[in-house]
Amino acid sequence: MGEITPFQSCISCGATYKIDEIVYTCRKCGDLLEIKYDYNFLRDKITHSDWRSQPLSVWRYRDFLPIRDPSKVVSLNEGGTKLYHCSRLGAALGIKNLYVKNEGDNPTGSFKDRGMTVGVSKALELNAKMVACASTGNTSASLAAYAARAGLSCIILIPLGGVAYGKLAQAIIYGAKVMQVRGNFDHALKMVVEISEKHREIYLLNSINPFRLEGQKTIAYEICDQLNGLVPDRVVVPVGNAGNISAIWKGFLEFFKVGLINKLPKMTGIQAAGASPVASAIKEGRDYIVPVEKPETVASAIRIGSPISWKKALGAIRDSGGTAEIVEDDEILEAQKMLAKYEGIFVEPASASSIAGLKKLVDYGLIDKNEVVVCVATGHGLKDPDAVVKSCGKPHEVDARLEAIENFLGLLSVR
Ligand code: F0G
Repeated sequence: MGEITPFQSCISCGATYKIDEIVYTCRKCGDLLEIKYDYNFLRDKITHSDWRSQPLSVWRYRDFLPIRDPSKVVSLNEGGTKLYHCSRLGAALGIKNLYVKNEGDNPTGSFKDRGMTVGVSKALELNAKMVACASTGNTSASLAAYAARAGLSCIILIPLGGVAYGKLAQAIIYGAKVMQVRGNFDHALKMVVEISEKHREIYLLNSINPFRLEGQKTIAYEICDQLNGLVPDRVVVPVGNAGNISAIWKGFLEFFKVGLINKLPKMTGIQAAGASPVASAIKEGRDYIVPVEKPETVASAIRIGSPISWKKALGAIRDSGGTAEIVEDDEILEAQKMLAKYEGIFVEPASASSIAGLKKLVDYGLIDKNEVVVCVATGHGLKDPDAVVKSCGKPHEVDARLEAIENFLGLLSVR
């Protein structure tokens, strides 16, 4: 039997749409879409393909990705990020087997590149000439880079004053048309959805677009391959617009469906106290979120009050038997320092929220110390150096005299 071509499917009513149809939400019920494959066909295909001989990267998993024309692939060598066994941080937190998946290794410094290599390739397959997104920073940096590489023009809407400078600089230098919207991320997202619905020549690449999440699910595939088929007991992920935790769960489910793994991890989502609609819904046992009107947190990447993929994220957390936790800004900054100090890994505040959440769950006794845990560190620390200077202060000033330096270091012995 031939393959059933991958298609788009509504997560609520099951309505289906062709793989090359430009549709962002279900025309029947308005809910989100996801990409579905013929898993029986895939199971057979991967047993005969040489995918394991390919280097670790997003495109190692091309059999699981919805791009049919290899000549349309736009790549900057994304994925293949390091998975570090963190024994010193693990000891400090009381976890024996702690791993950190360092997504800061990606070409523009965040996991968004996994989604954009697929999303922008899809844009080329669809003959789009213009791509757009709203962003708290990383999505815009990534889209701008991939659009540049593909020769597409790029429109970016960011919240006024709410984006770390490293990310803004990236979007600008890659040549995107960047607008600072007077409002927060949720306002910017609403605007970009409206403009791409009205002007159909603009292809929307926020994570409402299910092709983005297809790229991001490769985080799960890589974790399985890097642990040689061992599935972690738990994967801890920072949650903002809630696409990534949903994508990673889909990745694990797919490897399970085709028989590459035989168990599934508990998905654990972490949000900042000032922007925690998903984690609050989990804690309060609700199957809906209450949007946060004025989201606020030092972790600007996840400063989002009305996450678009909330329903997928609640499903990922509940179906996997996972949980969610809420962390304060000072806990996030403390976790950022710990990861840097104990392991030499520098991440931005949003990424450190996964470590902060893990710490809290271990302290509360909600995570067993023997669990194998993977924390996803979503973005590089150099994206937001201001956050470090604010939390750690500036270095001491000293005179250019040996004595002054010895004095500061406490090396002046009393003779
Ligand atoms: N960590 C970082 C560093 C991020 O940039 C984001 C999202 C997240 C975590 C949360 O992932 O939204 O899939 O739940 N940043 C988006 C952006 C919103 O515009 O860059 P999510």
